[in-house]
Amino acid sequence: MRYEPKTITLKDGTQALFRAPEPEDAAAFLDFFSAVRTETEFLLSGPGDPLPTPEEEQAWIANSLDSPAQMMIACEMDGRIVGNCQIVLKPNAKNRHRASLAIALRQEYWGRGIGTAMFTELFTVARAYGVTQLELDYIEGNDRGKALYEKMGFRPWGELPDGIRQSDGSMRKLIYMRKVLQ
Ligand SMILES: CC(C)(COP(=O)(O)OP(=O)(O)OC[C@H]1O[C@@H](n2cnc3c(N)ncnc32)[C@H](O)[C@@H]1OP(=O)(O)O)[C@@H](O)C(=O)NCCC(=O)NCCS
Repeated sequence: MRYEPKTITLKDGTQALFRAPEPEDAAAFLDFFSAVRTETEFLLSGPGDPLPTPEEEQAWIANSLDSPAQMMIACEMDGRIVGNCQIVLKPNAKNRHRASLAIALRQEYWGRGIGTAMFTELFTVARAYGVTQLELDYIEGNDRGKALYEKMGFRPWGELPDGIRQSDGSMRKLIYMRKVLQ
């Protein structure tokens, strides 16, 4: 699924370009992912985990654009990729009403309303595909993520004890949230 590009004015008046990632962005995306993994401990992969090769990343982006079940939206500011979010739709008649969301931004760009704007766009996409339940999970302690999700209408429904082992060896819960989309 391909997102049509849109310029978003953020709450500080600066502009962000939301657009579909293209296969030729593969190297820029790998730079983005490798940087963002060092800036937060609240993603599911960390600096010690392998990254795709540029060829694998290129194929992943092309596949996402062709797929009827997922869409990515990249955020470009200052001439570089500073954020990405994704919606993945469930495939079958029994779960086609559900989709999961994920998001990550470069630290320098946190707190400027990009997360809010990205989720608003993902909600529009979800509605267009008849999705009525959105799902996500976050790592215990991710207060900024939690604040975004609660603000956007997600509510917790369960948690997995010891779902994550952080790099310092501490165990964290995975908190599961959902939002009923009106
Ligand atoms: C979590 C993340 C996506 C949030 O995006 P963001 O663009 O910073 O969020 P927003 O600026 O839209 O802020 C959303 C809300 O968070 C809250 N918030 C802002 N700063 C905060 C802070 N320092 N601590 C806690 N909550 C905060 C506010 O309620 C804000 O709403 P408001 O602007 O209307 O007051 C982003 O910080 C990020 O990428 N973090 C690292 C990766 C990550 O954790 N991804 C999610 C994995 S589950």
